[in-house]
Amino acid sequence: MRLLILGGSAFLGRAVAAEALAAGHEVTVFNRGRTAPDVPGVESVRGDRESKEDLARLADQGPWDAIVDTSGYVPRVVGDSVRALADRAAAYVFMSTINVFPAWPTEAVADDSPLHDCSPDAGPDDGDYGTLKAGCERVVERDFPGRALSLRLGLLLGPHEDVGRLPALLLRMAAAGTTRDLRTLAPGEPGYLINPIDVRDIARFTLGAIDQGLTGGYIVAGTPSNASTYGELLEACIDATGSPAQLEWVDGAFLETQPDVGFWSELPIWIPPGDVPWDADTSRAEAAGLRCRPLRETVRDTWTWMAADGGTVRRTYQPRRPHGLSEDKERALFAAWDARRSS
Ligand SMILES: NC(=O)c1ccc[n+]([C@@H]2O[C@H](COP(=O)([O-])OP(=O)(O)OC[C@H]3O[C@@H](n4cnc5c(N)ncnc54)[C@H](OP(=O)(O)O)[C@@H]3O)[C@@H](O)[C@H]2O)c1
Repeated sequence: MRLLILGGSAFLGRAVAAEALAAGHEVTVFNRGRTAPDVPGVESVRGDRESKEDLARLADQGPWDAIVDTSGYVPRVVGDSVRALADRAAAYVFMSTINVFPAWPTEAVADDSPLHDCSPDAGPDDGDYGTLKAGCERVVERDFPGRALSLRLGLLLGPHEDVGRLPALLLRMAAAGTTRDLRTLAPGEPGYLINPIDVRDIARFTLGAIDQGLTGGYIVAGTPSNASTYGELLEACIDATGSPAQLEWVDGAFLETQPDVGFWSELPIWIPPGDVPWDADTSRAEAAGLRCRPLRETVRDTWTWMAADGGTVRRTYQPRRPHGLSEDKERALFAAWDARRSS
């Protein structure tokens, strides 16, 4: 198969490129050459997806069996690539998100849950992330009719994660007893259920979906049989890094009373009980072949990536957004927690 990835050098796009090459496919990636080097073995076309001239030059490199769009966030911009490439590929896979459902994360969501209301021609200021992604799905469906697939992704982890979630936890554990305290804050309860998905499992599902000619919308998130706990996640981080960290579980209700604590960011992959961010029905994707590897494997491989080349990634790691507790914030939370328990 001949595959075009719009993006293809960063976290998810990189995983799709690597998986496709490993399966023997021909891969073209289209990006500006700014974020990261391309995966060795791909054909690179340099350009900006916001430039119609660059898209026309890209179209000349076709045809492809399928396009995988990992870097679309604004309907108007996605529409330009869809129309420029409409007669150059048999299928268009749009990487969407479960944020397209207004019910998420307060209610369980399924593939037929209502989507945010957003025009397929919306611009960057016409909505938040999930709203604009819903508009992107609509423009792909409208201008690539009958050949469009939207994958509504849950929280992604895995090697090359540039968001900052799992790397923040791994770096905190690795620092325990050297540059950070051994006493390590763990939020809530060890049994708190989580269900992230490894980018490599999404990549594999994507190739299978193209092969089967799937169209429409599919939730692609951690499967119920693969659910894990926050305790298992932190223990896997401790094991992967060989850390002497001593976890101390701090009551979630107490954390909610503390000013300025960033749930999901300073406390990565964790929000107070009540919301249901992991309650997404993956049965349709499972029936189409979605399989998820154990979280422990994802954690181990992410640390292996960070520790490769003498730890170059670990030392130079720059996430897109800050994640994890700073030393000062963690100590302040422990001070407040100790005071509360001794009162
Ligand atoms: N992280 C999560 O937990 C999560 C959850 C749900 C859904 N998702 C979805 O998963 C996808 C993540 O994709 P990703 O990890 O591959 O990262 P991404 O940040 O969406 O895409 C980055 C790639 O796109 C290229 N790019 C960015 N702007 C470009 C432009 N104007 N023209 C051409 N290329 C451009 C970048 O290279 P250059 O900068 O070099 O051009 C890079 O290759 C997104 O669609 C996101 O909405 C993520």
